[in-house]
Amino acid sequence: MKRTGGSDEAKRRAGERAAEEVEDGFVVGLGTGSTTAHAIRAIGEMVEGGLEIQGIPTSFQSRQLALEVGIPLTSLDAISSVDLAIDGADRVVDTGDGDEQVLDRSDAGDGDLIKGGGAAHMREKLVDTAADRFVVVADPSKLADRLGGPIPLEVVPDAHSAVADTVQELEGEPTLREAEHKDGPVVTDNGNLVLDCSFGPIEDPERLASRLASIPGVLEHGLFVGRTDATYIGTETGVEVREY
Ligand code: A5P
Repeated sequence: MKRTGGSDEAKRRAGERAAEEVEDGFVVGLGTGSTTAHAIRAIGEMVEGGLEIQGIPTSFQSRQLALEVGIPLTSLDAISSVDLAIDGADRVVDTGDGDEQVLDRSDAGDGDLIKGGGAAHMREKLVDTAADRFVVVADPSKLADRLGGPIPLEVVPDAHSAVADTVQELEGEPTLREAEHKDGPVVTDNGNLVLDCSFGPIEDPERLASRLASIPGVLEHGLFVGRTDATYIGTETGVEVREY
């Protein structure tokens, strides 16, 4: 599994705390990444103890782990609603001083995210957006005053050069994501490619999100604006909770 910054202990605390939100009868969106993996394992233990839920995986990785720990699975088209989604992030806007528990996201975009470091953001956005409550699990290395850094775009393979040209017209720097243990590019679970596009610090994430979404050949981008309901931030000593 891909490893990102932040200690595994902090990730475990965040993931396990989020799993405590799961209730009997829930349909739960199962996010992707090393932090959410802790939540999935904790939910698996709850299922072993008698909890009856159904999970909707957001990637091959989360599906495999859910099967391994015994979580019954379903799919978006087989259910009428998703009660809760738990997912990680590569960047989380957090402008609070740590003492505030309830933040006004309209202030500074608190809770806005960049996702897709694991190339799973297309299914993640589908499932996370469908959920009545979307909870993000993160460690402090993910927190920032504003969004910035590469934004992953999942693109139709034939369209990657045309999309890269359009990204440059928008003053972004596109890089085709290369695979680490395969020649050539990363291929997503959906058979597409990923362009990581740097725009520097992002002043207006909503505007950039709608521009990226309108590029032909872009299937999904990794900006999640105004979608998060809460963030659990695992630290070395505990868990900080933000509700928006
Ligand atoms: C997957 O595509 C991403 O959106 C992940 O949710 C993100 O990379 C978080 O991963 P970690 O929990 O491993 O940092």
